[in-house]
Amino acid sequence: MSTNKVQIFDTTLRDGEQVPGCKLNTQQKLIIARQLDLLGVDVIEAGFPVSSPGDFNSVSEIAKLVKNATVCGLTRAVENDIKVAAEALQYAKRPRIHTGIGTSESHIKFKFNSTPEKIIERGVAAVKYAKSFVEDVEFYAEDAGRTNNEYLARVCEAMIKAGVTVLNIPDTTGYCLPEEYGEKIKYLKENVTGIDKVTISCHCHNDLGLATANSIAGVLNGARQIECTINGIGERAGNTSLEEVVMIMKQHPYLQLNTDINSKLLYETSLMVSDKMGMIVQPNKAIVGANAFAHSSGIHQDGVIKNRETYEIIDPAEVGVTESAIVLTARSGRAALAYRAKKVGYELTKLQLDIAYKEFLNFADKKKEVYDEDIHVIMNNTNIAVAVSA
Ligand code: KIV
Ligand code: ZN
Repeated sequence: MSTNKVQIFDTTLRDGEQVPGCKLNTQQKLIIARQLDLLGVDVIEAGFPVSSPGDFNSVSEIAKLVKNATVCGLTRAVENDIKVAAEALQYAKRPRIHTGIGTSESHIKFKFNSTPEKIIERGVAAVKYAKSFVEDVEFYAEDAGRTNNEYLARVCEAMIKAGVTVLNIPDTTGYCLPEEYGEKIKYLKENVTGIDKVTISCHCHNDLGLATANSIAGVLNGARQIECTINGIGERAGNTSLEEVVMIMKQHPYLQLNTDINSKLLYETSLMVSDKMGMIVQPNKAIVGANAFAHSSGIHQDGVIKNRETYEIIDPAEVGVTESAIVLTARSGRAALAYRAKKVGYELTKLQLDIAYKEFLNFADKKKEVYDEDIHVIMNNTNIAVAVSA
């Protein structure tokens, strides 16, 4: 696959929904699925149909609703899982079955009490069975991050022969370093017969905070699908964050990697997922956190007021955030106070600003943050300002 387009496979509704306390009902899942389709994701992993009647119903309803994206259902390498997933996906315009099995030494030994050869046989049988229902079959080699590359290459080759369209190379435990994960993808590109006929997918977990870096290393080495979630939610420390990988590729055009995501919908999608799942987004979260475009130190504020690009590499409007925020704290300078005072109606001369700034510092030292209503109090206390607008 030599295209520069990177497919975005969203698993918010499957891996993301595995977060304790974040379970969604069918109605909530449908609202999010519609938004993901609007956002422009290529694949929506809607759930794990065999896991419960509720999840079966959600996948089935999403399959009926979604207009553009491929709708995917997860299975184990188990016949009944695959049959049930095919049934749930029967009304999808573009159905995909995502099946697979653990391939690392520890999964083969402890999870399956099996042998490397038997694992390949089970994988091949699962892929062939899934192909009897749908054309588009993705195979995951669970714990590929800790799977020996030579064996992983044999697994991949066998799955290509069995008919997969996508090979998912998950770093299930979030163990790999970016170089190591990138090398793994490169190794597969160079050593697996038929690899150019299929799409390689990155599915990285964030246990060491490296999910985004690993996914980018993957696409730089030839993968053309990233599996990710809104706000990076998912098992344990989460999955690759959709908004991060999309904006990395967008902000670095020389990489010549692009997606079909409408980045202007990222912020509202993040808010929607956070709200429906009842899971707050950490304020310092890249791209969509409340502080991602907020400036609070005097030096930074002065720079941003002069020119946004001094301290911002993304125009907030590009991700659907209305504007950068100048937050007033005791670390703010005169430029920030003048800027915020003007926004609430006070145009200050240099002398007036000096007086107001002294009062502001007294005020700010007693509070964590100074709000618009506090600015009016400060101006009243100083008795100097002339309001320029109502
Ligand atoms: O992390 C993982 O390996 C998974 C697979 C089921 C794709 O979520
Ligand atoms: Zn996962």
